[in-house]
Parts: sequence; C-alpha cells; structure tokens
Amino acid sequence: MKRVSRSIVLIGMMGAGKSSVGACLHRRTGLGLLDTDEIVASKFGMSIPEIFAEHSEKKFREAETKALRSMQTEEGTIIATGGGVVLHKENIEILRSQAVIVWLDADEETLFARASRKQSRPLLQTKNPRKTFSQILGARRPLYANIADFRVDTSVLTDEEAAVAILAKLRRMNPKPKSPIPAKAS
Ligand code: S3P
Repeated sequence: MKRVSRSIVLIGMMGAGKSSVGACLHRRTGLGLLDTDEIVASKFGMSIPEIFAEHSEKKFREAETKALRSMQTEEGTIIATGGGVVLHKENIEILRSQAVIVWLDADEETLFARASRKQSRPLLQTKNPRKTFSQILGARRPLYANIADFRVDTSVLTDEEAAVAILAKLRRMNPKPKSPIPAKAS
C-alpha cells in the first residue's frame, strides 16, 4: 500500500501521557486519533484489566499487534499506543514503516505517580507496584530509545505543552510543507 502521509505514533511507559497528549495533538492538527488500547478493549468488549484476567496478557498482546496491522492507512493519523507495544518486533516494524515515533518520557517518580492514579494497569497489580514499575521501566527504556525518532520529557509539561513541543519538533524536521508531519523517506 502506498503511504501518502506519515502518522505520529506516541510510545512510552504507562503514565507518560500518550492518550491525553494524543488527544491534544488531534485537536491541534485535525488528524484522526487512534488508541491501540481502546481498539483492543472494544474488540474484546471489555476493559484491559478484564482482558488480562479473563484471556491473558498473551491474548492482549496478539490483539494489540492485530490492531496495529489494521491501522495501516494512507492518511496521517495520531496513534497512541500501550506501554508494551515495543515488546514485539512486528509492532516495531509496522510503526517504523509508516510513522514518526515520538517517545513520551518523564522522570520515574512522575511516571509512577501518574500511572498509579488509575487502577486500570494490570501489570501494576502486584505486592510491590513501585518495584514492579521500576523493573518494567528499566527493561523498556532502551527499547523506547531504540525505536523513537525523538524523545519529549513531559515531567514538567502539561499535555498541551507536550503537544506543542512535539509539533514544534516536527516542524523543525520538516520546515516547508503545510503538514507538520515529515514525509516518509523513500
Ligand atoms: C501496558 C500498558 C497499558 C495497556 C496494558 C499494558 C504495558 O497502556 O496497554 O495495560 O505493558 O505497559 P498504557 O501505557 O496506556 O497504560
């Protein structure tokens, strides 16, 4: 399939603000917004914790990959992903082939504080969620760093400020055209 425009994919740890910054980018650019967690939840007709509990993390991951495959479009789109999207090679290949990949990061305490605001993270339902979070983050940071086109530290930014920072960076990468999204290198 020929791609006429690249998408903006937001990756990063739980609590990085992918969904909320994605919503700000959507409002500011008018591009469509897709959220892999929402797609998977609606396919199963249940919440993410229910999917993990009733079907397993493996089934969730398979559905996440299917959602990414189905998202390949010719239109540039904002795509908010789940924090574990970088765990599978096929996911990375799909994202890299059609998107500018933006890593939303923050300092660990900030990420953990944000991630634990909601009880909707099955991976943090452990005896020591703080320690679990630290282990997952330690394992994933190199993966995010490896796949991202650039990183935005949101520790002291609001969601709107993070969106503005992303768009400014994209414009610097692609100063001329109307679209803030750099064209795919041929
Ligand atoms: C996950 C993060 C969640 C969700 C699922 C697994 C992870 O999304 O996809 O609970 O492996 O980090 P958020 O990053 O939006 O919390």
